[in-house]
Amino acid sequence: MTDATNEPEWHVVGSLGDIDDEDVMRFDHAGATYAVYNTPQGYFATDGMCTHEGSHLADGFVDGDIIECSMHLGRFHIPTGQVRDAPVTVDLGTYPVKVEGGKIFIGLPRRGSGSGA
Ligand code: FES
Repeated sequence: MTDATNEPEWHVVGSLGDIDDEDVMRFDHAGATYAVYNTPQGYFATDGMCTHEGSHLADGFVDGDIIECSMHLGRFHIPTGQVRDAPVTVDLGTYPVKVEGGKIFIGLPRRGSGSGA
């Protein structure tokens, strides 16, 4: 029997080329905002709002594998979501990303799957 409930739900974010090298795109789904990145290490996704005061990270600046918030210049490590520089103190959630058929997908938890943090 397959364990399909643990599989994320994949959503198309855009096409390859929609996110420039070392850039970030906002993706909204079901009332939540995510940020999807094209870094030298590949594509990644995190929560879309800064954990400091809720600025959109898609307005920030990607430097290698770091996202710098545009509001107060807090920095996070994109692949892990971990805080790198103040004033941010709370890590970002991260999400799987895959590329298939020229499209970029983000993997989000299935709604109603009961997975809690
Ligand atoms: S809102 Fe991002 S560093 Fe303050």
